[in-house]
Parts: sequence; C-alpha cells; structure tokens
Amino acid sequence: MQSKSGQWNNNLAFLLAATGSAVGLGNIWGFPYKAGENGGGLFVLLYIFFVIVLGLPVFMAEVFIGKVGKGNPVGAVEALAKKTKSSRNWNLVAYSGILASLIIAGYYAVIAGLVINYGFIAAAGFVGTDPGVVYAQEISSFWEMTFWFSIFLIGSGIVVGFGIEKGIESAMRILLPLLFVLVILMVGYGAVRGDMPAALDYLFSWKADQFNPGTVQAAVGQAFFSLSIGMGTLMAFGSYMPKSQQVSKSSVIVVTADTGVALFAGLAIFPLVFFFALDPTAGTELVFKTMTTAFAEMGLFGQFIGPLFYFLLAVAAFSSMISILEPSVVFVSEKFNFSRFKSSMCIVVICFFLSLISVAGFNVLKDASIGALDNPFEAMKYLADDFLLLLVGTGISLFVGHRLQNVITAEATGISNTFLLKLWVIVLKYISPISLMIIWVLGNAQVLFGVNLLDYILI
Ligand code: PHE
Repeated sequence: MQSKSGQWNNNLAFLLAATGSAVGLGNIWGFPYKAGENGGGLFVLLYIFFVIVLGLPVFMAEVFIGKVGKGNPVGAVEALAKKTKSSRNWNLVAYSGILASLIIAGYYAVIAGLVINYGFIAAAGFVGTDPGVVYAQEISSFWEMTFWFSIFLIGSGIVVGFGIEKGIESAMRILLPLLFVLVILMVGYGAVRGDMPAALDYLFSWKADQFNPGTVQAAVGQAFFSLSIGMGTLMAFGSYMPKSQQVSKSSVIVVTADTGVALFAGLAIFPLVFFFALDPTAGTELVFKTMTTAFAEMGLFGQFIGPLFYFLLAVAAFSSMISILEPSVVFVSEKFNFSRFKSSMCIVVICFFLSLISVAGFNVLKDASIGALDNPFEAMKYLADDFLLLLVGTGISLFVGHRLQNVITAEATGISNTFLLKLWVIVLKYISPISLMIIWVLGNAQVLFGVNLLDYILI
C-alpha cells in the first residue's frame, strides 16, 4: 500500500484509497435501506446535516492523528499521547476502533458474499423469476452463504497480506469512475422508467412526525460508517500521507464524493421501489429485491447491466473491505512483529468466525433475537455502526480537540484560515463530543430499551 518510506507515492493515492474505502456497501446497500427504514426525508436531511457538521470535522481529526502520529492506529495514538504528555490510556480509542473494524468486517463480508452470489444469478438472468423467492432461497442456506463470504474474505485478506501498494491505486483509477458512471446511469433509468417525483418527495421531504432519537442515531451512525470514520482506517491511511498533502482539502473531496454516491444510490433505487409498488421499508434486502425486479423488467439489457451492477458493487465492497482490514493487520504485524501476510491471515481467521455468527442471523439463528435486536446479524451491525462508532468518534474528537493543541498547525492540517482552524478545534472540543454523546445515550435508550427519553425531557 505504501512505499518503502511508509508513504503513498503521490497525493492522488490517498484520495483514491480513501474514496475507495468510503464508497462501498454503506452507500449503495446501506444508505437506501436505512433511509427507507427511517421514513425517508427526515433521515436523509439529518444525514446530510451530520455529514457536514460532525462527519467532516471528525474525518479530518482521524486522518490528522494518522498523519502526525504515524504507524498503526494504536501506535499513532500512543506516540501522540507521549508527545503531548497525555495519558497512554487514550489508546483505548484506537483499540475500540479496531474492535469495531473486526465486527464490521464480520458482517460486511457476508453482504459482499451475497453480492457476488447475485452477480452470478444476474448473469443467468432474472426474467421469469420472483425476486422475493430468489432472495429467500439465497439466504436460506448457511453453507452456501458461508462459501460466498469466504471467497470474499480470503481474497481481501490475501490482497492486504501482500500489501496493496500499486494495485489499489491502479484499480481505483478505472473502477471508481466506472462506478460513478454506472450509478448515474441507474439514476437515469430510474428517472425514465420509474417514479422519480415520488422518490424525490420521499427522500427529501421533512417529516417532523418521524423525529425520534433512534432516527437521529441511525443517521449519525450511517454517516460515520459511510465515511469510514471510527475504525482506524483513516488513521492508517493518514499515516501514509505525504507531508505536503492537505488533510483538509483531501477530506472535503472524499466526503463530498461519498455523500454524492449515497444520494445517487437513493435516487437510483427509490424511483423503482415506488414504480413497482415495492416496500421502501424492506430493510437489508431492499437492494437485492428491488434491483432484481428492475433487471428482470429490462429483459436482455438487464442481463447485461445486472451482472455489471453487482460486479461494481462487489468492487466497491472489496476496496472498502481491504481498508477495514488494514488497521488491525498493521496493528498485529507491528505489535507482534509478524509479517504482513501472517498478520493478515490471523485477522482473516477472527473475521471468519464473526462472519459465521453473522450468516447464522440470516437462517439458522434468524429468530434468535438479542434483546431488542432481531438476530445476531442485526446485533453485530448495531453494536459496530451505532454503538461503537459514535463512541470512537467521541474519543477521536476529544483527543484531537483537547490534547493535540500543540500539534495542530495550519501546515499540518492544511487549514490556513485561522478562523476555520479555531472553529474546527471548537467543534472537536465541545460540539462533536457533546452532541455525539447525547445522541448515543438517547438513541441507545430508544433502540435497546424502547424508551424515548425526549418524552421525559420535553414534558
Ligand atoms: N465506508 C464503507 C462503506 O460505506 C465501509 C467502511 C467502514 C470502510 C469503515 C472502512 C472502514 O461501505
């Protein structure tokens, strides 16, 4: 991934790798279904709001830790803690990030496996099939799902193990633009064939009655997840950044690209959902069922574009997956002095077991609810995306805002405007940790215990 000196070879490398990391299943699979589950408009508007006010500043903070701390996430935080005479325990932030990354890798591989499986089904064509039946059949087999996720997991592990040096850069150069073009094509198809006005109304209308802490937490969690915040990925990638590269400018580019793809994915899927009178609140299966309905309807053209869609989704998932594995792999290899390959294989084994738990959530343990959470898959997703990511995001904000003041300079951050630099620090010091913690407490109370604390506070 990085040259011998531990750096990307050029500024574009960071941008490609970070965008490849950010743009993934979270955008095309996660964003539309979470928007659907949370009532559409309100979720989308909250999402955009949180991307700007919390996502971007914390994204920059995480990249910044990597860029100035160097090394694996735990090492970077420890080095900076030492330099600023802060407690070594700040490394808990990085450890929690790594824990989140492992859980995410566990369920991410399962969805990606399903995507690959769908690529093959799409190549055979969907005409005459019932998308609901196809989906039910594909998720019903524990071993078949295990087969598909294993291919994906082992493949990603091997690439990370060998180091993703030039590979990711050259692949991303071609595949990212292709992904953008395909998503735009899908939006075009939705506009011509689907019900675009209904989709626009659904996605962008403010629905005050839907407002509750769970929705807010889901919007922030999704924003952090989609931007790859809170798992050490950005620290790892930041640590390979050339000194001359601006954290601020690069972050704005990646955050904008990621948000654009998520919104376009929504605009590709919801016109079809409404046109075919499908259920927008279908949840995790939304992309699979809706898109197959559309591909079947397209006939022969669908047989061409269907596999292409799943191929690109798999590519997006792959570049994200290697970035999810990267922090734990560098950590293990530096901590235990393992070769990159050996360390990658250790992480693959851990993720394999986590993925088995996640797969079981689709079939054998489908109804095994864990507290308020439907099954092990949903539980892992909630624990990582909504529970841990917000905690790590808070930790990153506090660490950079309160402890790294002497390290923050216009040069290191790329923010030359003093007002903006001060604003960034204030957001990290107070605004982001306080709001993240309020959202975290209220959201967990609602989702885990069914208690809307706002009802008590507002009375
Ligand atoms: N951001 C990726 C996505 O949207 C997922 C991801 C999370 C990647 C965390 C790296 C780290 O799919």
